[in-house]
Amino acid sequence: MQQSTALSPAQVDAVHAVAQAAAAADGVAPLSEETLLALDRTPGGDGTTATYLTVVTDGTLVGYGHVAPDGSSEIVVHPDSRRHGHGRALLEGALGVRSDVRVWAHGNLAPARALAASLALEPVRELWRMSLDVESHPAPEPVVPRGFRARSFEPGRDEQAWLDVNSRAFAHHPEQGRMTLADLRDRMDQPWFDPAGLILVEDQKSGALAASHWTKIADEGGEVYVVAVDPAYQGRGLGGVVTALGLRHLASRGVARIDLYVEGDNAPALATYRRLGFEQSALDVMYSRTVHERLPR
Ligand SMILES: CC(C)(COP(=O)(O)OP(=O)(O)OC[C@H]1O[C@@H](n2cnc3c(N)ncnc32)[C@H](O)[C@@H]1OP(=O)(O)O)[C@@H](O)C(=O)NCCC(=O)NCCS
Repeated sequence: MQQSTALSPAQVDAVHAVAQAAAAADGVAPLSEETLLALDRTPGGDGTTATYLTVVTDGTLVGYGHVAPDGSSEIVVHPDSRRHGHGRALLEGALGVRSDVRVWAHGNLAPARALAASLALEPVRELWRMSLDVESHPAPEPVVPRGFRARSFEPGRDEQAWLDVNSRAFAHHPEQGRMTLADLRDRMDQPWFDPAGLILVEDQKSGALAASHWTKIADEGGEVYVVAVDPAYQGRGLGGVVTALGLRHLASRGVARIDLYVEGDNAPALATYRRLGFEQSALDVMYSRTVHERLPR
């Protein structure tokens, strides 16, 4: 197994190919959007790059491990090369990169559960995917409260305001709250990005951005990508309004199903989405070494 902080374009292509083969065999993508974007970005050498682990047999890349700058990690082995110890080698390699490595098991499939258990890792975080059938759950008519107005995101004008509200709304979220202008631009450069699907609700008097709902349409499916309400405007029902505005936008584009991802311990969000008709459709689990409390002396 090789460990490095840079991959050649050919290696990046090979990682995409392994991830695609695994997704086709397992029914769930092994690498997250953030990991795939990080792979395609040129490593900047600024201390924020990831660590890449590769397993090559007979000149072909068959296994890949990604340790992100925050210690979160993903590993995947090509379906034709499984049960040869590559997954264990990658996971042990990832755990050796830094002490606080946490590995995602997207779909929490049986092989991942068994591998995590064999190294005595424990579940430390759950991410739920929830889904809604558009036809049987039409979005409620959104009523924008007095003093607010809804409009679409304008590239070149709204980036900083959106980032500011996002970082305040997700101050305690491990990833979302840290989104930078570069991260935002990466996503705006994706073929799926559509400013009409990024809905803003602003304070009419001050012009301040109060809430937003970024929707995404890919592969015919719709997604509640990011819903954020500025803490200064929370508690006025804007979350429900902006969510409904986005759901109606997605329905107007003809999507049959809408997905979203939410932390398994975010009870208020789970309740909101359940009320709108969303049901759990998948589960991602993050595994970590057990961290023992030090005995008091
Ligand atoms: C999970 C994954 C990485 C395992 O890769 P692998 O190369 O087949 O794993 P290994 O051969 O190193 O297996 C190591 C141990 O994991 C367990 N394991 C792996 N696959 C298993 C399976 N299908 N059934 C039962 N146990 C399994 C076993 O304890 C195994 O040890 P053993 O072979 O001595 O019994 C691979 O199935 C994969 O890419 N899955 C999709 C991505 C994913 O879920 N990643 C998250 C990993 S936490």
